[in-house]
Amino acid sequence: MTETLTSPLIIKSQDHTENPTIAFAKDVLKGLNSTPKRLSSVYFYDERGSQIFEEICELEEYYLTRKETEILQKSAAEIISKLPYKTHLVELGSGSSTKTRILLEAAMERFGETQYSPIDVSAEILTNTVNDLVKRYPELQLEAVAGRYEFGMEYILKHSTTSNCIMWLGSSIGNLTRVEAAQFLREVRKNIGDDDSLLLGIDLRKGPEILEPAYDDASGVTADFNLNLLDRINTELGGNFERRHFHHKAVYNVEEGRIEMYLISDLDQEIEIQNLGTSISFKKDEMILTEYSYKYSHAEIKALAEAAGFFLEQQWLDDEGFFSLNCFKPQNNAPELRAL
Ligand code: AVI
Repeated sequence: MTETLTSPLIIKSQDHTENPTIAFAKDVLKGLNSTPKRLSSVYFYDERGSQIFEEICELEEYYLTRKETEILQKSAAEIISKLPYKTHLVELGSGSSTKTRILLEAAMERFGETQYSPIDVSAEILTNTVNDLVKRYPELQLEAVAGRYEFGMEYILKHSTTSNCIMWLGSSIGNLTRVEAAQFLREVRKNIGDDDSLLLGIDLRKGPEILEPAYDDASGVTADFNLNLLDRINTELGGNFERRHFHHKAVYNVEEGRIEMYLISDLDQEIEIQNLGTSISFKKDEMILTEYSYKYSHAEIKALAEAAGFFLEQQWLDDEGFFSLNCFKPQNNAPELRAL
């Protein structure tokens, strides 16, 4: 079911999933009572967390945004030239669509009028983005969806009359485990046609000397991003976490090819969370796992595509080979989706 928001260009999903605060409360209760303790990285992005993430994207150490932008600046025209004429661009997790504008401009250059459908869970961010894009680009035909990706994609693709390119930039796929990533892409595969494609930003495997500072920067912005989760539990669930009694840690697990982010307790302590009617004990040095950020090799990207019923049609890299943009096309005759 859908509802039109203040802007006629935005469709808001009326998800029948749970109230977000209740879902957060249940996940916090379960995660902090697990061994080892964990909190999901999806909860980083409250208003403050989203602001801090924007700051992370500007950091010298956090090369991902810079490298992806470099690839787009160098290759946007070529990427667009590979798509069928007038392809509808559909973006997952568009946020402010900053990097996407490079692709949109290349698309308008080639197609003239261009259909663009950003999908984002935050209706506020989407409203600002849409208002800005409408003013700036009269040739853009916009229809945005505020809601979960699955809902947004299904809605957009059902109403689309041309071929579609689903774009998922920023290596957000890295925050899923490898199995979850393949499962998610399989769902995408079920929704798209043979002429459609996927444009995926994926961060590449590299040494810990580059990866660890990217997730533990000298000015402490990523530490603030991680610790903000505790503030969020305090504000939304009545917790009494003290930031100064925890610290941020990011380690690269070479074997798994992933950054692991933790919050570590600096002392034995008991944290009360009023709205959950419970308290949680922490031992000194006990860790809460808050995020995985998976990195991929070239072979792992190909395997991911194949496991989900796609093939890797083309890949673009930055000059140092740190980051990749990948065009996945549906594999014909791939009824049996393979495991990773
Ligand atoms: C959103 N995501 C792709 C970021 C990443 O690099 O995994 C989240 C992030 N966590 C710490 N820094 C950035």
